[in-house]
This record gives sequence, structure tokens and C-alpha cells, in this order.
Amino acid sequence: MSKGIQVKTSQQSYRAIVGEGIFEEQIKEISDSFEGDINFLLVDENVEKYHSNIIDHAFEAAGKKLFMMSVPEGEKSKSISFWKTCVEFLLENGVRRNTPVFVMGGGVTGDVGGFAAASALRGVPLIHIPTTVLAMVDSSIGGKTGVNHSTGKNLIGAFYQPQKVVAEIAFLNSLPRNEWANGLSEILKYGAIERADIFDRATFFLEDEISKISREKLTDLIADCIQIKADIVKKDEFEGNIRAYLNFGHTFAHALEKACGYQSISHGEAVYLGMLAAIDLSNHFGANLKPDKLLNYRSLYSYRVSKDQLSLDDLMNHMKFDKKRTNQHIRFVLLKEWQSPILKEVATDTLIHQAWQTALQEI
Ligand code: GLY
Repeated sequence: MSKGIQVKTSQQSYRAIVGEGIFEEQIKEISDSFEGDINFLLVDENVEKYHSNIIDHAFEAAGKKLFMMSVPEGEKSKSISFWKTCVEFLLENGVRRNTPVFVMGGGVTGDVGGFAAASALRGVPLIHIPTTVLAMVDSSIGGKTGVNHSTGKNLIGAFYQPQKVVAEIAFLNSLPRNEWANGLSEILKYGAIERADIFDRATFFLEDEISKISREKLTDLIADCIQIKADIVKKDEFEGNIRAYLNFGHTFAHALEKACGYQSISHGEAVYLGMLAAIDLSNHFGANLKPDKLLNYRSLYSYRVSKDQLSLDDLMNHMKFDKKRTNQHIRFVLLKEWQSPILKEVATDTLIHQAWQTALQEI
């Protein structure tokens, strides 16, 4: 079973395919659609380790010479220096304007690999192969690529759309439990900003064993999330307005990630707390939201950082450097009610402090 979603943007219109058992066929089809006799693959080191058989087999079947480079796991790869390593790898091995560059892994690999594809020769064909739930439902869709800077996350990069996105569900089998929770945060985000039924449909994430999760329900849910994102990106590709709704919880989350040195908290864990904080802040501005829809999933998140290790002053300072800040105020995505997001600039530190305190009770 597979599902296809059309993502329409000004750069190009492309398909995102999600399903089980689609990888080999898709690699061959995509490879065949380009002239030339080489393919590039930038692949997350763990994905390479766990799935080397299927990867080797698929690229051998594609019948072209493969240049493959591993991307070390973790946020440290989303750096200017690793982006440079990727670009040099492409250039030194003869990438051309029509050579496909397959970028396979989670959000970090997709972002840095995508930015390398965007910048080598001013842009070479990029194919995203997301292998985490988070990358499937969010980061591989919509063309955001880039790396971090010492002053904040994602501050250097480009909007660069892939030619195709191939989301092979079988790659999720090797995903550790915390990575499922990581992706769940972005799924719940779509529930909060756009589609109420997602909150109930995601309950299969609570299964004791990942292997018990219905692949059909998973494929449907991932496809629906991609569709929501595709609809938003079609209306606002460059985040002039409504695309910013996809950052629900993220202004808080980015500050938390920075405070934890991008190590002791994952993006999804931070987004989960960030959404709880954003709900609290929304209530200060007249909403009447109960966080239960998110708290139902609380047991899936285990934090490696405690609230005593975090300073509110640091968190506030990190927020003030977030690129979503405008003038002196910090800009948030809040909810008027569920599925009704708004952008709000907040000048009062006390309200933001309170929101932090509410969210940090959970860790
Ligand atoms: N991850 C949010 C966006 O792509 O706009």
C-alpha cells in the first residue's frame, strides 16, 4: 500500500510517496529519469548501518556508479563545516547540474544534505528519502534546507524544493522509541493547528511495541500530515504568513534546544514542551484550551534534563535571538481555539515566564 501527495510550489511541483516496500522501485525509477551514469547518496550513518543491504541492493539495481557519504548522527552535523564537507564531496566527485543527489535520513541529514544540493553548482536535483517519522511528516516537505549558527538554529540556509520525496515505512522499523516520540510532536502539532481527528488517530503511538503498530494506519496518518503541510506550503511557500503556523510550539522549543546545547533534549521533545507553553500563553490571550489532548501522550516523552538545570533568563535570552523575533517583541504562534492559529507578538516577559513555568512542570 502506498499513497502519493502532490506538493505544488513556485520552484516545482513534486510528489511525496509514502508506503511500505516502495524504496527499490522508486530509486530505480528516479535514477532512470536522469541522464548520466552516477548517483550521489548522502546517508545518515545509522541508517546506513541498519539498512545497508536494502540500500546497496536498490542502488545496484539502479545500475549507476554510486558516490556515497555518511552523515554523522546528531545536530553537530548541521554545521557550516559539515555542509562544506558535503559540497566538496559532490564537487570533487563530478556532480553535474543533472546528477541526482539522494539525501537519506532524518531532519539533520535532510537539512544539511538538502542545503548542499541547493548550493553545489547553484542547485542540483535533490531527492529526499526521510527515514524518521519527523522527517516524513515535516522536514522533508516544503523545501527548507540549512544549518545552524552559534547564534541560533537554522539561521543559514535556502528554500530549495526536492524533485521527489520517498517515505519508505520499512525504514521506521529500526527507529528507537524516542525517535517515534520526536515525530509524534510534529503530528500533534498538525492536530493542534489544523485537524482535530489527528489527536485520536495518533493513539497507536501508545502501543507497547512498535511492531504492533498498524502500517496502514501509520501510512494514512503520515500521508495526511504531508497533505496538510503541502496545502500550507502551496499557499505560502516562503513563510510570509500562514506557513509560520507550522512553528506552533517552536519558538519555545528552539530556545530549549539551544539552552541544552542541542544535546540533552531532542527537537521533538522540545516541541512537545513548546506546545504546552504555547497553549498556556494562548489561554492568557483569551483562549480556553485544556492541554489534555497533548498530555494524553506524556508517557512517551522521557526527559534527560530537569527543570532545575534550566534558567528562565537563559531561555528568554535565547528566544530573543530566535529569527522569528520582530522588533523588540517575540513572535509566537498561538491558538484562538483548537485548529485556529494566530501570530502574536508578545511584549510582556511575565506572561512568557508563566508559560515556561507551566510547560517545565512536565520535566
Ligand atoms: N518545519 C516548518 C516548515 O517547514 O515550515
